[in-house]
Amino acid sequence: MTTTAGPRTTPEVAGLGHSRRRVEDARFIEGQGNYVDDIELPGMLHMAIHRSPLAHARILSIDTSEAEAVEGVIAVVTGELLAQYNLAWMPTLSGDTQAVLATDKVRFQGQEIAAVIATDRYIAEDAAELIQVEYEDLEPIVNPQRALEDDAPVIRDDKEDQDSNLVYTWESGDKTATDAAFDKAAHVVSLETFYPRSHPSPLETCGIVADVNSATGQANLYMTSQAPHAHRTVFALVAGLPEQNIRIISPDIGGGFGNKVPVYPGYVVATAASLVIGKPVKWVETRTENLISTGFARDYYMKGELALSDEGRILGLRVDMVSDQGAFYSDAQPTAFKAGLFHIVTGSYDYPAAHVTTKGAYTNKAPGGVAYRCSFRVTEASYLIERLVQNAAYEIGIDPAEFRAKNFIKPEQFPYATPTGFVYDSGDYEKAMRLAMEMVGYDEIQNEKEKALEEGRLVGVGMASFTEVVGAGHGEEYDILGLKMFDSAELRVHPTGKAILKLGVKSQGQGHETTFAQIVAEELGIPASDVKVIEGDTDNTPYGLGTYASRSTPVAGAATAVISRKLREKAKTIAAHLLEASEDDLEWEPGRFSVAGDPESSVTIQDIAFAAYTNPPPGLEAGLEGVNYYDPPNMTYPFGTYIVVVDIDPDSGQWKVRRMVAVDDCGVRINPMVVEGQIHGGLAEGYAMSSMQYMTFDESGNCIGSNFMDYLIPTAWETPRFELGETVTPSPHHPIGAKGVGESATVGSPAAYVNAVVDALQHLGVTNIDMPVSSDRVWAAMEQAETS
Ligand code: CDP
Repeated sequence: MTTTAGPRTTPEVAGLGHSRRRVEDARFIEGQGNYVDDIELPGMLHMAIHRSPLAHARILSIDTSEAEAVEGVIAVVTGELLAQYNLAWMPTLSGDTQAVLATDKVRFQGQEIAAVIATDRYIAEDAAELIQVEYEDLEPIVNPQRALEDDAPVIRDDKEDQDSNLVYTWESGDKTATDAAFDKAAHVVSLETFYPRSHPSPLETCGIVADVNSATGQANLYMTSQAPHAHRTVFALVAGLPEQNIRIISPDIGGGFGNKVPVYPGYVVATAASLVIGKPVKWVETRTENLISTGFARDYYMKGELALSDEGRILGLRVDMVSDQGAFYSDAQPTAFKAGLFHIVTGSYDYPAAHVTTKGAYTNKAPGGVAYRCSFRVTEASYLIERLVQNAAYEIGIDPAEFRAKNFIKPEQFPYATPTGFVYDSGDYEKAMRLAMEMVGYDEIQNEKEKALEEGRLVGVGMASFTEVVGAGHGEEYDILGLKMFDSAELRVHPTGKAILKLGVKSQGQGHETTFAQIVAEELGIPASDVKVIEGDTDNTPYGLGTYASRSTPVAGAATAVISRKLREKAKTIAAHLLEASEDDLEWEPGRFSVAGDPESSVTIQDIAFAAYTNPPPGLEAGLEGVNYYDPPNMTYPFGTYIVVVDIDPDSGQWKVRRMVAVDDCGVRINPMVVEGQIHGGLAEGYAMSSMQYMTFDESGNCIGSNFMDYLIPTAWETPRFELGETVTPSPHHPIGAKGVGESATVGSPAAYVNAVVDALQHLGVTNIDMPVSSDRVWAAMEQAETS
């Protein structure tokens, strides 16, 4: 399969390979989007949450009397009240438990303690401030190193068998073979680094309008949910509501990036309040609430070592990591395969041995570890291996690109089994790298570096040749709380040939309404503009596990192709009936069946759709519709090479990206323009992580970064210009050869930016600068190198 011949369909049909303009943008640009906060229901009440100012403290008493006395306050909900309904605690998507409203202790600053329901939001917010809580201070633990010390106080003393702050210990690979590789190594390169805590901070914060009808028991929940079906099942389990009576509607979502995967206490309290009061209840977070209390990402301490032969071949990899999970372990985590980092930590390289260990620790921070534009820790893994590889090239004394070429997995080695036990589907790593090198003018820039040094300028070239893993599952090995990670597509072609496609996934801005219609257009020849895509309503879409970790294209996209093909088979039977020909004599071109050798005898897909309802062949069921639940045979492994050129001011340490060239391979591209948009966003986020976007906590556990003055996200002003290139290596595991792309650039690019800065300082002996690479840090590294 190849796209080099260009799209098979006309621009009017707009199948694969057409840069169709995004249909959803009309409503977003014109302010016609419909977000949770736009929803107003008759009699609706408003909820505000009282949160803990302390990171770790025992609750001695909660006094709600002043709040209750405020005019307009309907109810004040505490954990004690929820406990009467068995709702004070809830299960998390990774099988842990999380306090809905704190009863015994508070475990992070910003934790939910009580909620006020009032006739308007101002009253609710004001009254929430009147709630008095008496605390007994406990030692706050703000890093996993302290958390794992023997004398550290146990944060989760609510759990019966928990006598330390250890959440998990995982291991992958072959320790004996890896030790043997290191024993015979001519060189060992090591790197200790920290990937700072980060927050996805979507434009729209999280929220819910819960509307429970006490007479019928019907619960309509309008929620900012990346996974509405999975959330419905969790609600059924937590609240004991019958699942058929729960309808989760995720209307337009203003960005998710993993932040809208967990179930948050606010959702549960608003639903319980609506159930008890009998009126709709709206809760929408403020920006600060979103930044301090909802799913964080990263916060990973990593140590990696590469064993190298004299000639510069990688012999083995050893990795040890510790993750700060926060107070509740609540990211969505498959039960069988812990941590996606194991999938790709060995990178794009061919070597026989690897051994990886990782621990998770509870700390007094908000729950962390969400897959912020990545699948389960792959960003950290990709960063580590690409930083190690650059340092290995320096150690051996060869160019980092040539070091990579020497060690890459070769195209003929795919499918490739990694030493940590996963199978990469397809790749041509050197092709992507050489294209990126050509685009950036690699040799000239390497030459310029020498000259620049002589002139007192600092120029660096950094590269990352990443491999990514996206598209969970397959169901046998990947699940969320036991729910297999398949996804679904239901397609109905109406009598006039117009279609509705319903999906189990849910876009948060990725353009599904545009691109998934293009898959139907490709397979059935129905113009994409005649295909309406519906997502995010559990009563009206087939069950699916949702959109995160770039799984929509690999899983729901595949389901769309499969169901379209099934309908095409049925269409063929109807066409044979209409043309009075044998099915074996029919030929297909997008949108039309014709009799072989007689192109005049043909019927369009629209003719066939009409006949499906008005003149079906005798004995054939009427209609043209069906549903597919697709369980992928494997994950997909997109890849690429990013090259960054930086100039560093030797007098201040300030660094500037001069060039950023990104060559991505996500297999067949459904919509090249949408793919480029995804990559632009990811490259901007990668730049953000490497330079400015991180969250810190002081020693008392106060979150520094509760607003956009302290938590810096780049605007268009700071963001570098990107130059994009592509190669196309289809996935053999996907019906249309596509791989996911949504997160690749966020995963792949941070190492390229940091490698470029390190490269500029390498002549000083600098081999590492921790992220975020601020000018202060660059300056300090230069100073230290010069004085030592
Ligand atoms: O799951 P999520 O939508 O976040 O990620 P994705 O599956 O990588 O898709 C992101 C967007 O890029 C969707 O609109 C896809 O249809 C589009 N895409 C594409 O056009 N071609 C690809 N090979 C991969 C994604």
